[in-house]
Amino acid sequence: MSNVLVTGAAGFIGVNFVYYWLDQHPADKVLGLDALTYAGNHNSLVEAEKNPQFKFVHGDIRDQSLIEQLLRDESIDTVVHFAAESHVDRSISGPDAFIDTNIIGTHSMLKAAREVWLEGPQGRVPHRFHHVSTDEVYGSLGPEDPAFKETTPYAPNSPYSASKAASDHLVRAYHHTYGLDVTTSNCSNNYGPYQFPEKLIPLVLINILHGRSLPIYGDGKNIRDWLYVDDHARGIDLIIKQGKLGETYNIGGHNEWTNIDIVNLICDLLDRHFTQDAELKARFPSAPAANGAQARSLITYVKDRPGHDQRYAIDATKTTQELGYQPAETFETGIQKTLQWYLDNEAWWRAVMDGSYKDWIDQQYKDRKAS
Ligand code: NAD
Ligand code: TYD
Repeated sequence: MSNVLVTGAAGFIGVNFVYYWLDQHPADKVLGLDALTYAGNHNSLVEAEKNPQFKFVHGDIRDQSLIEQLLRDESIDTVVHFAAESHVDRSISGPDAFIDTNIIGTHSMLKAAREVWLEGPQGRVPHRFHHVSTDEVYGSLGPEDPAFKETTPYAPNSPYSASKAASDHLVRAYHHTYGLDVTTSNCSNNYGPYQFPEKLIPLVLINILHGRSLPIYGDGKNIRDWLYVDDHARGIDLIIKQGKLGETYNIGGHNEWTNIDIVNLICDLLDRHFTQDAELKARFPSAPAANGAQARSLITYVKDRPGHDQRYAIDATKTTQELGYQPAETFETGIQKTLQWYLDNEAWWRAVMDGSYKDWIDQQYKDRKAS
């Protein structure tokens, strides 16, 4: 039995991880911590809160004394650290929050872990600090380059990826210098339920339902490797249970797609839903399919993201060979589940699209006048 602290528990991957963990490890206690920034949504945890094994704490990872208190009072033996600022576009317009949360915040978590798990009155106690990072720390690939391995040198290009890279190095240093029991995972782009609609897949889905344009940065040929969020959770589970201390593991989906192909696919899938379900026309009267048009008609090429990485691809051979990791979901099955979830959970995405979200999206549209 374990007592697990999940940071960023009200964000996209954190929420999915909490549900995964409660389901797979029913004897464990899970403490979810989140500062509830614009990306965190307490309502996403409403089902988890019905489970007596789960508790939510509203707090900041930069508050070292709070983290120490939680580690002690809740006898936490495992930290799974998701909390971060996570959107590349926001890191370009406002990098400071990324330095504060991703670097200073992770360091505060590490200091608290060291204090309680290594330097407490009982001396060293059994523990694990699992740090969740991204493939973006490895930089950008050309079309023929081999996929990122754990040994690929770091070459982060955006303030987001640079801040994640810095946090990875701090985690590594706390292992080598102080002997903290750490593991790190670097994964590709996640998709699935509860993703905040500023990221490509939910943004496209929701814009189609509103009949709003679908902004494609640059030529739409950038490539990402897409990982269904539950496959990510299973990968982390394997690493926590069987991974070697101090090691990093890549988690990928074997799913490389250009952005334009993904957007076309979502357009076609949603159009098909409208032909199969007459109720959707009444629910979303502005969607092209409600008016005899195709969702693809909304595609708009806009100014490219500055420093836009061309391609990410993950080589997860090490994780597969050492831990038996395999993604269960194909992109075709995962995207169908995701699309269905957004159609079934309109109240969720309407609630998270509050004033601050609308301001941000409007600013984005202004900044990226059609090229
Ligand atoms: P998200 O932006 O949806 O959620 C981040 C959560 O962290 C939010 O709930 C937010 O409120 C919380 N948070 C932010 N600052 C905090 C602070 N100071 N203290 C406590 N909580 C704070 O992000 P996500 O997509 O769920 O990503 C989770 C982690 O996975 C991040 O570390 C990210 O770098 C990594 N990751 C994400 C992806 C992806 O595709 N989404 C891919 C690779 C790695
Ligand atoms: P995003 O979901 O922001 O993830 P990341 O930048 O971390 O990979 O973007 C995924 C890809 O989609 C990326 O190449 C940028 C592109 N993109 C668009 O073309 N239009 C959009 O409106 C958004 C949000 C992203």
